[in-house]
Amino acid sequence: MARSIDTLSVHAGEDREKAHDSLVTPIILATAYPFDSTADLHKYFSGEVERSEEYARYGNPTQDIAEKKLAALDNGEAALLTSTGMSAIVTTLLAMVKPGMHIVITADSYRKTRVFVREFLAKFGIEHTSCEPSVAGIEAAIKPTTKLIITESPTNPYLNCIDLEALCALAKAKRIKTMIDATLATPYNLRPLDFGVDLVIHSATKYLGGHNDLMAGVVIGRKDLIQAIREHQGMFGALASPFTAYMLIRGLKTFAVRMRHQNESGLRIARFLEAHPKVEQVWYPGLESHAAHAIAKRQMKGFGSLISFTIKGTLEDGSKVVDACEIPYLAPSLGGPESLIEQPALMSYYDKSPEERGRLGIRENLIRLSVGLESADDLIADLDQALNRI
Ligand SMILES: Cc1ncc(COP(=O)(O)O)c(C=O)c1O
Repeated sequence: MARSIDTLSVHAGEDREKAHDSLVTPIILATAYPFDSTADLHKYFSGEVERSEEYARYGNPTQDIAEKKLAALDNGEAALLTSTGMSAIVTTLLAMVKPGMHIVITADSYRKTRVFVREFLAKFGIEHTSCEPSVAGIEAAIKPTTKLIITESPTNPYLNCIDLEALCALAKAKRIKTMIDATLATPYNLRPLDFGVDLVIHSATKYLGGHNDLMAGVVIGRKDLIQAIREHQGMFGALASPFTAYMLIRGLKTFAVRMRHQNESGLRIARFLEAHPKVEQVWYPGLESHAAHAIAKRQMKGFGSLISFTIKGTLEDGSKVVDACEIPYLAPSLGGPESLIEQPALMSYYDKSPEERGRLGIRENLIRLSVGLESADDLIADLDQALNRI
């Protein structure tokens, strides 16, 4: 029977009967899983008998359950849990690249993903083209050697959305694999595999973990693709610990409930900001004014709780607003219960000059807000008093 995402968040991946009749999934910390006899060892290595565990760098039972839950949420065949979102991206890319191949990456992808492609993969002869973040931009960047398209939806900080139906039609016609970082969407709002994307990545540090207290990443897709990535992970060792896997399983129990609240608050606060006299522009895909609103509305169930906006003022005025906020913390990251606020020009691009930031599209008066689980009314009142300081 098909289950709703609320039920999947609570139950998917978990056996009904657990060790010691425990109601919740236990944490298994063992680093090795003994064989009964040498005969059993022969059976395992010859492939006669399957078992999921052997040595913990190749996986552990708590990780396995978290992976099954994550695969179910994204409607995928299999998932691989990793130590961070970046290790999911790096492990996936290292498993997929071949010398001489060309990658197309959309220009507003997560900064460290772009740096990895541009500075690390280039060292091994893997070419790439960074393109305008649209299907037309991607199509124009494709070469005969293109084997992979890397994109994101929505993106940070301007929440651009890629038309997944058009992207998948293009990629399938050209026999190119697609990998999408859907961290900001989450499987509650968007399931890219349903559109035909090959691999979905999330930084589980964000909405999936959901409590600002764990780091993890996940890649989801077809079994054979995930198995190939898993074999690389067995070499690189960028695993999430069993404790992290447990925390993720626990955090996911409230995933659907949290997402509903954050979608609702995100839209309300975006609308409040758009109407505020001290605000110049708001980027939130749920707003009719957003350039990708039509795409977002068509393919997403909700729009999440990351909002970017420019104020009518300078970088320093932006700092005044951020410092005057009483509820959101001044911190990077997103998706947790505590609202977080920051200026991308300072938090992510401190090392760049204002001119370089301008070339990268990072406005000096830009503020990024991750709406948490507090009351939207309280957040609106707090933002209002902070904005009225300038
Ligand atoms: C869209 C996106 N992808 C990937 C990452 C990297 O995830 P992690 O910090 O878990 O390595 C982040 C982190 O901010 C992100 O926002």
